[in-house]
Amino acid sequence: MALKITVIGTGYLGATHAAAMAELGFEVLGLDVVPEKIAMLQRGEVPMYEPGLEELLRRHVSGIEGSSGRLRFTTDYAEVAAFGDVHFVCVNTPQRHGEYACDMSYVDAAIASLAPHLHGPALVVGKSTVPVGSADRLAAYLAEHAPAGGDAELAWNPEFLREGFAVQDTLHPDRIVVGVRSERAEKLLREVYATPVTEGAPFVVTDFPTAELVKTSANSFLATKISFINAMAEVCEAAGGDVAKLAEAIGYDDRIGKKFLRAGIGFGGGCLPKDIRAFMARAGELGADQALTFLREIDSINMRQRGQMVELARQALGGGSFLGKRVAVLGATFKPDSDDVRDSPALNVAGQIHLQGAQVTVYDPKGMGNARRLFPTLGYADSALEAVRGADVVLHLTEWREFRELDPAELGGATASRVILDGRNALDGEVWRRAGWTYRAMGRPGA
Ligand code: UDX
Repeated sequence: MALKITVIGTGYLGATHAAAMAELGFEVLGLDVVPEKIAMLQRGEVPMYEPGLEELLRRHVSGIEGSSGRLRFTTDYAEVAAFGDVHFVCVNTPQRHGEYACDMSYVDAAIASLAPHLHGPALVVGKSTVPVGSADRLAAYLAEHAPAGGDAELAWNPEFLREGFAVQDTLHPDRIVVGVRSERAEKLLREVYATPVTEGAPFVVTDFPTAELVKTSANSFLATKISFINAMAEVCEAAGGDVAKLAEAIGYDDRIGKKFLRAGIGFGGGCLPKDIRAFMARAGELGADQALTFLREIDSINMRQRGQMVELARQALGGGSFLGKRVAVLGATFKPDSDDVRDSPALNVAGQIHLQGAQVTVYDPKGMGNARRLFPTLGYADSALEAVRGADVVLHLTEWREFRELDPAELGGATASRVILDGRNALDGEVWRRAGWTYRAMGRPGA
């Protein structure tokens, strides 16, 4: 009989995982503690912007015309426990308020709510990004609190999806990593992921700590790559080099690779910044803090980029105060193809300039609602053209395709002055210059 799957937590990770599991042919029950979220998902609506997710969901949510009916949602842990053979825990693990460490309260609450209902054999699979050692602790908790005892087993299966590509990354992962303690757990997870594995995804079986560490070390490596190229951008600024050419040239070396070498205002979002901080905090608890001191530098290089963008803007406005200046900001989300503004470098830069007295107007294709909620005092416009009206300088801070397709001549007709600063090294400077603009990109003083 086919496995039945439940997914606990229906954020980016959980909603996508639930829909993907239904797409792979399983019966799926998703759970969230927020009833409004469940009501939306049951109507086939996604609470965030993620390309392709709504279509996938609507293909499977029961009650939607023409759907497979394999996907349902609930708020009831007893129902989840009774329904599933494999329970994926996909709740978030934010940074603890005022600290570097990871807030495990949602994971702990999910396991604590599920455990007392597990009366028969079940595999509980953690997908959230957690401090190494969590799986050991949670396995002991399950064994003690589930009526099924040892038959309610734990496994750890980190998720590597990127926002904006969540559906694609979940259905066609680069690799599947499973931390297991028994052959039974491995067998069940091989059954769940049979399709991606047949399609060529490597299946890496390991112990709990390694599985947990794979995720945090992968994110640390990605953060390191970005801060490395941003450090080179700083040197290029000082030496008169061109960081985009430099990245291209070093990227031809296969051992380095071209990806994640785009210099600019740095990384943000709900993962990389908090994950490297939580990793440092955990290493400290384990007495291995020296091993990760370099991550402190990665973090500070990253945060410095935002300040450098502010300084570039100040220079572009004559080098003095921002008071009375009009600044247009294109982009609010932490990356394109997402409506996520968590720890967004773009909004951070906009906020700093606003605090220094400028009149800032922001436009983003999908992030306006979230940006308005988080930064209610900034100005907002409904289009790029409206945002730049009367601007003394335009800042390009999130590399949406829409911004690459803008007509510089049309925008130039609306601004007070034709100066654009590219904080993502993603626009074609030549096109802007031909339309009479001063184009300046981070890490490319002469380009
Ligand atoms: C990341 C990891 O990529 C993913 O594997 C993990 O599961 C979750 O965290 P995500 O946060 O969605 O995914 O975004 P990602 O595409 O990694 O980008 C992170 C940030 O780095 C963005 O702010 C992006 O603008 C920035 N970035 C990325 C750069 O500044 N330069 C680059 O070259 C690449």
